[in-house]
Amino acid sequence: MSNLSLAIVLAAGESKRMKSKTPKVLHKIAGRTVIENLLTAVEAIAPKKLTVVVGAQKDAVIEHISAIYPSANTVFQEKRNGTGAAAALALAEYKGNGTVLILAADTPLLTTQTLQEFINAHQSEKNSASVLTALLPDPTGYGRIMRGDDGVITKIIEEKDASESERDIDEINTGVYLFELPVIRNVINQLRSDNSQKELYLTDVIELINKAGNRPYAILSNDYTETLGVNDRSQLAECQGIMRDRINYLHMQNGVSIIDPTTTWIDAGVEIDEDVLIYPGTVITGKTKINSAAVIGPRTTLDSCTVGEGAKVVESHCTDSKIGKGVKIGPFTYLRKGSVLKDESKAGAFVEIKNSTVGRGSKVAHLSYVGDAQIGDESNIGAATVFVNYDGEEKHKTKVGDHVRIGSDTMLVAPVTVGDGAYTAAGSVINEDVPPGAIGIGRAKQVNILGWVLRKRGNSKSAAAAKKAGAKE
Ligand code: UD1
Ligand code: CA
Repeated sequence: MSNLSLAIVLAAGESKRMKSKTPKVLHKIAGRTVIENLLTAVEAIAPKKLTVVVGAQKDAVIEHISAIYPSANTVFQEKRNGTGAAAALALAEYKGNGTVLILAADTPLLTTQTLQEFINAHQSEKNSASVLTALLPDPTGYGRIMRGDDGVITKIIEEKDASESERDIDEINTGVYLFELPVIRNVINQLRSDNSQKELYLTDVIELINKAGNRPYAILSNDYTETLGVNDRSQLAECQGIMRDRINYLHMQNGVSIIDPTTTWIDAGVEIDEDVLIYPGTVITGKTKINSAAVIGPRTTLDSCTVGEGAKVVESHCTDSKIGKGVKIGPFTYLRKGSVLKDESKAGAFVEIKNSTVGRGSKVAHLSYVGDAQIGDESNIGAATVFVNYDGEEKHKTKVGDHVRIGSDTMLVAPVTVGDGAYTAAGSVINEDVPPGAIGIGRAKQVNILGWVLRKRGNSKSAAAAKKAGAKE
């Protein structure tokens, strides 16, 4: 726990470089927005007050913040005239003293641990101002750190205002700062916009603090990847990749086998037990929970699903579904919202299921659509069966009991019920209930017209084959 009076998150910018209708802080990384990733890290250090400065598309940003961090307070920056102006607004409405953490909303990879270490260093050294810095392999685009003696920063120079030799400096400003409140209050209103972007730069407080006789210190972070900013789509992709590696690493540490971590994308909120095996090309999102020894993939999507112990999901797309213990899904199965597959059941190749329950041990093995159905235990749904749930206007329900055998290519026209232990004949259109133990036959009786091929197709290979087999005209 830190001893922070205030945290200010700057999120008012226009996100021009993203070229998007969505503000950059609402773009997603590992299923969480950019700002949610940051606020999650900040929340754990428990600042007494947290203020987010909003501006561009403020309604969407405020709505999102109140959903993910209800105690946060927001301040509106009407004119987007720079990070310094944004910070000044939040400082103006806070009267207390102590330490303030200021950070940009677009650095989603920062961790609580790094923030905590930064705060510890600032407070134990009794600094008046500290800047978290990083050494980047490619510092392009970031503010550069001008150092004086003993770790003191004399100035931060923005890339756009830097000379060629200043651009060679590879220590950058991460945009994360700690200030003692009286120290920053003393200078924040002295910022000038005499720079290439005609903005009030928060970074200029460093020089002002020096002039006022205080010493701002650089504290170098030891993992530069945490401090990368999201300003355009390629940086967003880079951060997504780093977050993916972090999440996969943690799962692997916890006993999950991931065959190819570079093509396995798992959201931050996903839970996976020991001995789960994940094949390449798999995407696991939302509130998914996978129990031990399940096998997932290759090329499988699980969005907000639960997967039971030892279940197998191969080459399939599943959303908002419950997959029980030992269930087999796929290859090429589509489980839509509300599919419940009870223990030891199966949904095989080219099967689509929606808002339906498949009972314990029941099988929908091939080429079927199951919609709005309740299937009991130990039943078999023959290949190419369709649960005809839509009459063109409304959806209707189908009930299939326990130990039922639905013949291949049955059309179950809902609303309809097939009782326990009943059968349907292959190729039937079943639009009346089938009582328990009965067989429902809903198809024309077969007629064989003898000699037809010989009479109508006399010169064909079929006719020759038929003759050879003894057929007569
Ligand atoms: C900023 C720093 C730069 C640092 C980098 C780290 C300044 C002048 N530069 O540059 O030294 O290396 O962050 O990532 O601070 N914002 C507002 N109101 C505004 C303008 C911006 O709230 O008027 C917010 C943005 O939404 C963003 C943050 O401040 O979340 C930083 O702004 P951005 O334009 O991304 O600054 P950088 O150019 O990245
Ligand atoms: Ca930025």
